[in-house]
Amino acid sequence: MNYSDWLSRKGLEYRKEILYFADKNTLDIANSYGTPLYVINEQMIRERYRSLKNVLNLEYRNNQINYAVKANSNLSVLKILNSEGASFDCTSMGEVYTCLKAGISSEKIIFTGNMFTDTDFTFAVNNDIFVNLDSLSQLNRLVRVYETFGKEKKGISFRINPEFGAGHHKHTITAGRDIKFGILEEQTIEAYRKAKEAGFEKFGIHQHIGSGVINALDFGKPAEKFISIIEKIIEELDIKFEFIDFGGGLGIPYRPEEEPLDLESYKNLVIKPFLDLVKSKGLGEPIFKIEPGRYLSAESTILLTQINTIKDNGFKLFAGVDAGFNTLIRPTLYNSYHHIIPCDIKGKEQEFEYDVVGPICESGDILGKARKLKKLKEGDHLAILDTGAYGFVMSSPYNSRPRPAEVLINNETVYEIRRAETFDDLLNTQKIPDHLK
Ligand code: LLP
Repeated sequence: MNYSDWLSRKGLEYRKEILYFADKNTLDIANSYGTPLYVINEQMIRERYRSLKNVLNLEYRNNQINYAVKANSNLSVLKILNSEGASFDCTSMGEVYTCLKAGISSEKIIFTGNMFTDTDFTFAVNNDIFVNLDSLSQLNRLVRVYETFGKEKKGISFRINPEFGAGHHKHTITAGRDIKFGILEEQTIEAYRKAKEAGFEKFGIHQHIGSGVINALDFGKPAEKFISIIEKIIEELDIKFEFIDFGGGLGIPYRPEEEPLDLESYKNLVIKPFLDLVKSKGLGEPIFKIEPGRYLSAESTILLTQINTIKDNGFKLFAGVDAGFNTLIRPTLYNSYHHIIPCDIKGKEQEFEYDVVGPICESGDILGKARKLKKLKEGDHLAILDTGAYGFVMSSPYNSRPRPAEVLINNETVYEIRRAETFDDLLNTQKIPDHLK
C-alpha cells in the first residue's frame, strides 16, 4: 500500500499542504479546542465495524462482535457501536456501569473480569450481566451470590487459556502456562462439570490470546488448541454451547510499511475451523463471537499536539510537545510505534531527525524516537495517529497535568464529547484532615 493510501485508509489527507482528518482541517480543530486533543472520526468506527461484520456474515450468520470496552470507553463511542448493533465485552464493574449509562441493554454485555471479587459478582448478578469466569475457584462464589439474591442463574462461561499466545508486546500476550489469565486445559472438564452440577443450563466458552496481533497466522495454533478443548468438553459432558468466543486481539497497521490484518487468513484459521467443529459435532448454531477493541477504534482517532520547544542540544534535536506519556502512554509503556505527522507542511522541504518528547519530568517521556520530519518550529502542530484504542483510557493526571478533551467529528461537524479536566478536577476527590486545615 502506498503512503497516501495508507493515510487515507485512516481518514487523513493533505489538502493544499494542510492535514485534513475526516474532511476537517486539523489546524482549525486545534485552534478551536486547544491541545492536546483527542479527535475521533465517527464514520471510521462505523466503517471498521461494518466491514468486519460483513466478513463474519459472509461466513456464518449467527455471529456477534463484542466490542472490548477497555480500548475506548467514551460514552459516544459506545453509543456509536451500539447503534451499529455491536455487543460489548467489559472487564470491570466500571465498564459495565458505563455501558449501562450509554443505554446498552444488559443482555448485550459480557463481563470478562479477572481476579473477580464478590462485589463484582454481586454487581453483575443484580444487573443481569453474563459472567465469564477466569478461575475454577470463582464458581462457588458466583453461585452463592446468585443464591443470596434469589436470582435465576444466567448462563456461565469460562475463559480458557489455550497456552499459545501472541501480541505486540510481552505484556499483551494473554495465553501461556505462566500467564495469569483463564484456566488451563487440565481444569476445563472439571470446571464445566461443576458448573453443570451447580445448576447452570446455558454455557459459553471463551479464549483471548493477546492484543495487537497483526500477523493473522498467530491466531492459528491457539484456535486449533481451543477447538480441541471444546471437543473434549462436548464428548465428556454432553454440553451444548450457546456461544464460542475467540476473543479479540486483531491488530492494525501502526507503521506505514505495515499492511492491514489479513482477514482472509483469519477466516481460514479461525472461522473455518469453527465451522468444521460445528458441523462435525452437530452443534446446531452456536454464536460465533469475537471481541475486538483496537481493530474497531484505534484508527478512528488522532491526538493533536502543539510543539512548544525545539531544542537542539548540539547532539540531537528534540521537538517538545504538549502531549506526554500522561496523555498517551503506549510508546513509553510498550515501546509502541505511533506514526506522527505535521498538520501543516507549507513551504517545508528539508527533513531533520527529531525525538518527539512530552513535558513529563521523566526521560522516558518519548512519543516518537528518531522521527524524520520536515523542519519543525515552535508553535507547529503534529498529529499522532491511531490513538483511538488504549489512548485516552490509559491517560493519567501524572505531574498534575489535567487530562485533555475529546472531540468527535460526524458529517463535518465537530462535537466536544469530553471537556478537558481542570485543576479543580485534579483536587476534588481529596479531603484534608482537621489538623491540617
Ligand atoms: N478481550 C479480552 C478478554 C481482552 O483482555 C482484551 C484486551 C480484548 C478482548 C481486546 O483486545 P484488542 O482487540 O483490543 O487487542 N493496553 C494494551 C492492550 C491491552 C489489551 C488487554 N486486553 C495496548 O495499548 O496495546
